[in-house]
Amino acid sequence: MIPLFDLKRQYKELKKEILDAIDQVIQNGKVILGAQVEKLERNISSFIGVKYGIGVANGSDALVIALRAMGINKGDKVITTPYTFFATASSIVRNNAMPVFVDVDKETYNIDLNQVENILKKEKIFGIIPVHLFGQTVDLEGLLYLKEKYGIKILEDCAQSIGSEGKVNGSIRKSGSIGDAGILSFFPTKNLGTYGDGGMIVTDDEQIYETAKMLRVHGSKKKYFHETVGYNSRLDEIHAAILNVKFKYLETWTDKRISIAKKYAKFFEKEKLNLKYPKIEQKSFKYHVFHQYVVKFKDNKIRDKVRNHLNDAGIGTSIYYPVPLHLQSCFKKLGYKEGDFPISENLSKTTLALPIFPELTDEEIEKVVFEISKVLKEEQ
Ligand SMILES: Cc1ncc(COP(=O)(O)O)c(C=O)c1O
Repeated sequence: MIPLFDLKRQYKELKKEILDAIDQVIQNGKVILGAQVEKLERNISSFIGVKYGIGVANGSDALVIALRAMGINKGDKVITTPYTFFATASSIVRNNAMPVFVDVDKETYNIDLNQVENILKKEKIFGIIPVHLFGQTVDLEGLLYLKEKYGIKILEDCAQSIGSEGKVNGSIRKSGSIGDAGILSFFPTKNLGTYGDGGMIVTDDEQIYETAKMLRVHGSKKKYFHETVGYNSRLDEIHAAILNVKFKYLETWTDKRISIAKKYAKFFEKEKLNLKYPKIEQKSFKYHVFHQYVVKFKDNKIRDKVRNHLNDAGIGTSIYYPVPLHLQSCFKKLGYKEGDFPISENLSKTTLALPIFPELTDEEIEKVVFEISKVLKEEQ
């Protein structure tokens, strides 16, 4: 069996450290919003290169709270991509605002900033939520250009991209450091994940920080005195303690993910198969942290055939995402229809995520490629 993702292999290595950290939290007796959450907020914010981190219950809440702390109002329009996880767009709706979808770029699968600009020229827009999809950084300079030229807000969805980098005016910046705010998810499968749910908002803006901190505890600065109606959305001390242990290994794990992606690319190149896989670019920074390793096939039939074959061979895969968000039934009233975003629609039908996690072995990578090549060579 080669799973898509394996929590257990990593746990074997870290078991003692993690159990000790959990034990200490319980022994201390402070299990909600204590020293571990504060430590993680410091760890993550300085890693990303911003002043503040606010630990919350999950990445989805982080998006909702961040938008609200950024000052979104009922009816505001927010541009995002339909080729992302549901929470990116639902956070806009949960704020009584309106998602405006824009198709993705056919090479990077990230939001197409040219199409974003076309909308900004015509309509009043509150802001945009760029998603650094699968771990690949959106063009940060492009985002800053739009922010400055059109005075819009930017909330970076970094749920999949912790540690990914881009270049801004010659210097290397991490995803999450150039928007008004960024959000992270610590869902178990993420590059930095806990054994449950967790999330964080990161920002340089003191007002967003203060507001988000208040919103995560029912809108109160002083206990039992409520300035606004907020949420119960806290990151638990136990999860923060686990994440503080894992944080020490994040850079090593990211390097392993990148080296696995390089190995996949090398094998695919050798086999000369009819599929598209992430190109490994020679850059001096981590433009992609490979949260997912996603390949693209000629059509839907072959994608599904490969997926079934891999399943029979004991290899885990997943489809991110089978239904683009503009075609979700809950968003019907937004008025989009099939054909509106052809690239996203095509990717939903033709891409497949292959196993990637730091502990994946060379033999396993080779086996995955070998099994894919069996199907594709039959077709060629
Ligand atoms: C792009 C993206 N945004 C937001 C989220 C939401 O994070 P969570 O699952 O922690 O609520 C996820 C996680 O699945 C995600 O992949």
